[in-house]
Amino acid sequence: MKTPICDFVNEYVNKKSHRLHVPGHKGSGFLGVEKFDITEIDGADDLYCPSSIILESEENASKIYNCPTYYTTEGSSHAIRAMVYLVNLYAKRNGKSTKILATRNVHKSFLTVTMLLDIDVDFINTSENGSYLSSNLNAEVLDNYLKTLKELPCALYITSPDYLGNTADIKEIKKVLNKYDIYLLVDNAHGAYLKFLDDSLFPIDLGADMCASSAHKTLPVLTGGAYLHLSNNAYNLFKGDVLTALTTFGSTSPSYLTLQSLDYANKILSTTFKGDLKTTIKKINELKVKLKELSYTICDSEPLKITIKTKPYGYLVEDFIKILYKNNTIPEFYDTDYIVLSFSPSTDLSTYDAVYSLLKNIDKKESVCDNIPKITKYKKALSIKDAIFSKHEIVDASKSENKIYADINIHCPPAVPIVIPGEIITKEVINTFIYYNIDKVKIVKQ
Ligand SMILES: Cc1ncc(COP(=O)(O)O)c(C=O)c1O
Repeated sequence: MKTPICDFVNEYVNKKSHRLHVPGHKGSGFLGVEKFDITEIDGADDLYCPSSIILESEENASKIYNCPTYYTTEGSSHAIRAMVYLVNLYAKRNGKSTKILATRNVHKSFLTVTMLLDIDVDFINTSENGSYLSSNLNAEVLDNYLKTLKELPCALYITSPDYLGNTADIKEIKKVLNKYDIYLLVDNAHGAYLKFLDDSLFPIDLGADMCASSAHKTLPVLTGGAYLHLSNNAYNLFKGDVLTALTTFGSTSPSYLTLQSLDYANKILSTTFKGDLKTTIKKINELKVKLKELSYTICDSEPLKITIKTKPYGYLVEDFIKILYKNNTIPEFYDTDYIVLSFSPSTDLSTYDAVYSLLKNIDKKESVCDNIPKITKYKKALSIKDAIFSKHEIVDASKSENKIYADINIHCPPAVPIVIPGEIITKEVINTFIYYNIDKVKIVKQ
């Protein structure tokens, strides 16, 4: 597969031209990669109006994913905003409800776009039996929920895989949505590699209408590299508006380093990646088995993650994480209950043995009691936009009962909203703030 963006930039670098254009480093600097960091000079094409090298490269990615695929250098955050914009546009143009149904474990880019477009979101609470980071939404629960609604949403928005590595049954969920003529949007930030499994779990292959995939999270791509994918049906509807959607939320200075990285990834994805992924998953599965033999609680997850629950092994995450850091082992994510290790075909082979020996040398202790507080009811007082655009004040979390939550900048951990801006803070919510060590909160000033 050709790499038109890389070829163009290489040729430009070799010409050693006088760079009388931005960026200001003029092709040299301490990183060493500055010479490849160009801007939209003649011949370099335009990300939001592509007609030559970027178009060709995106067509290559579309062939690999077998669906219309667009690049962004600003992460899935950007692609998420674009897909929500598109479905909102569709609903408005067709006189449908603009309401979106979403599970509560959304990334903040979903909240920011619904705020900007003032979209009414109906959050379905399906995490009663697990972590706030996951949703147990399944086809049956969804069907029963939709039956109760007077006004159907135009789309369902889900996060799959979620932060802990759980994947939704997209095929079955989509069957239900088809009955009601509702679109399915998937935050697939952690799942760009799912296309390359022997049995693809790529959301578009399973029936999603649009999805956002962070190439940079699981593929050999620089930070920021991501895709917006559309099903062929969605493409027929939205093709005239996709670039407007991306341009609405994107910078006019996309990173050419990241574009080259996405471009070069096509060559890897179309040749060695599938085989390397298979070998990697085998290594990860072997490690999971060995860790379970050591009595670790390894949660079910998509293949590239190892999600460890430390309390059954006798450790609070905060103590366990100190041991990892002391041994120069840096996880992808951790909260009060889970540690997530993220692997990819680029993981050095020595890492698997290093992780095993490190975890083997940690003594098992008596289990620590597991007590994630539950929030059984949520009460909405304002829309997300009205909450964010109101006057605010910061108060102690312990003194925030009955106030309206107003922060869109979600704490990490837990990385997902405990309560949505515009919702009322209850005692249960306060207990959850405390559980996640959140001591100050932003509320609407009354
Ligand atoms: C579930 C989820 N969705 C979306 C995003 C945003 O992705 P990006 O960093 O590529 O913008 C993240 C980032 O961590 C994420 O974890």
